[in-house]
Amino acid sequence: VESPTYPGMLAIARASGLRPVPVPVDADGVRPELLADAFRASGARVFVCQPLFQNPTGAVLAPARRAEVLRIAREAGAFVVEDDFVRRLAHADAGELPPPLAADDPDGVVVHVSSLTKATSPSFRVCALAARGPALERLRAIQVVDTFFVPRPLQEAALELVGSPAWPRHLRSLTAELKTRRDAMTGALRHRLPELALPHIPSGGYHLWLRLPDGAHESALATAALRAGVALTPGRPYFSAEPPAAHVRLSFAAVAGTAEITEGVRRLRAACDEVLGPGRENGSTPPPGVATLLP
Ligand SMILES: Cc1ncc(COP(=O)(O)O)c(C=O)c1O
Repeated sequence: VESPTYPGMLAIARASGLRPVPVPVDADGVRPELLADAFRASGARVFVCQPLFQNPTGAVLAPARRAEVLRIAREAGAFVVEDDFVRRLAHADAGELPPPLAADDPDGVVVHVSSLTKATSPSFRVCALAARGPALERLRAIQVVDTFFVPRPLQEAALELVGSPAWPRHLRSLTAELKTRRDAMTGALRHRLPELALPHIPSGGYHLWLRLPDGAHESALATAALRAGVALTPGRPYFSAEPPAAHVRLSFAAVAGTAEITEGVRRLRAACDEVLGPGRENGSTPPPGVATLLP
């Protein structure tokens, strides 16, 4: 697995009796040379990869690494599960997105997974699996004993939704709103919490991944933030082994708008003062309740 990665993926792996082996991710996605080492050392037969807007880092797998990852997996006799979970949540300034890895895979090494939930609702549980060859046959066989089929009303609702003229409009407004919220959050963080490192500003997805100063305790910060009315996610569960540093993940999905984001960051400043010691805001302090965003 990538490290860090989505804790739900780690939970699924462990529940299936598998042992997740961490392979570090940097600003260009998973590091191919370390992936090759991990395959050699572990004999793993599957690699779960999020090439686009990786959760939690937001990294996009660099063009030169895409073929490398596929070659390394193929040579190890392994499959790549491509978790393409936020393709529809690109920000308005993301530019052209790279195609799925599965598009460059002629021989069925990649199993591509995507779902409608992120662009619609968490309870709209419709997903798509795309695979070729023996992997597809095995997945078909498992489905017969697993889900059997997606309920018909849900299938009808999904088809009606994605086939309606409102669907592309919805996706356009989603990407515009996500960009606005990301900019509001990054601006407020730079202004109020300069000591939190934001190594990568993503152009897709609905959260930011921040590194805490050395020695800071992410769970203490999460508790203090909650007391101040801000829910954040500690970084530890995203690592399948010892993390290199303390992190937190801040989501901008479940808010009413940008005013809540700037207010949330203001409260997070208070929580950080309590846990990390008083910090220094950039520029002058805005009056309480007035949101100031940097460009
Ligand atoms: C990387 C990643 N994959 C998969 C999922 C699950 O997606 P779904 O809501 O479609 O079950 C999530 C949910 O947050 C995720 O972050």
